[in-house]
Amino acid sequence: MNQEEYILAHSDQEPDYLAKINRATHLRMLNPRMLSGHLQGRVLAMFCQMIQPERILELGTYTGYSALCMAEILPEDGVLHTIECDDELESFILQNFASVLHGKKIKLHIGQALKVIENLDEVFDLVFIDADKREYLAYYEAVLPKVRPGGFILADNTWWDGKVLEQVNPNDKQTIEIMRFNDFIAADSRVEKVMLPLRDGLTVIRKK
Ligand SMILES: C[S@@+](CC[C@H](N)C(=O)[O-])C[C@H]1O[C@@H](n2cnc3c(N)ncnc32)[C@H](O)[C@@H]1O
Repeated sequence: MNQEEYILAHSDQEPDYLAKINRATHLRMLNPRMLSGHLQGRVLAMFCQMIQPERILELGTYTGYSALCMAEILPEDGVLHTIECDDELESFILQNFASVLHGKKIKLHIGQALKVIENLDEVFDLVFIDADKREYLAYYEAVLPKVRPGGFILADNTWWDGKVLEQVNPNDKQTIEIMRFNDFIAADSRVEKVMLPLRDGLTVIRKK
């Protein structure tokens, strides 16, 4: 048994409906590694148990896995807005949301995250950033004013497969922008932050 298997064996099981979405994503989609997966999904659900959010925003839906993990914990009148720019994913996402009761609490927006955020008139308890790595800092600046004081932002992939520690290829915009985001957050006195070595790096940010 390796470390990952041991950790999963000592954490909550992946709910059946999510295991099905996980499997279907691996069968039907091109980049199934983008999906949060069992461990990160349970971590997101546990964060929601701790934060008890009523308004959640997600940037980067993909097949809806992480949105469903977070929506599990929403109260009856809670809402999760999730934004995805790839309209070819729309019917698969909606099918996944329809497969479970709490999927009704999720509102899918098809479009560019920065454009959609502009038109969202909500105050959020929690934001999950998981869309275009080249836009992380722009997402952060766009969502921070919409997060309530004491609210949280989670940013995924901030370890970026360790590339943040290596000599950067000047054409590698994604790594450059993830590094810029990480350095900016580290120095930003408006927030408290801790970077967790979970999967590909998950930065937990709390607005003061
Ligand atoms: C890593 S995947 C999201 C995975 C999902 N959050 C999960 O954990 O299951 C990133 C998604 O962001 C979408 N995306 C990329 N750039 C975007 C943008 N500018 N606006 C909205 N979505 C975007 C991609 O099409 C992709 O589906």
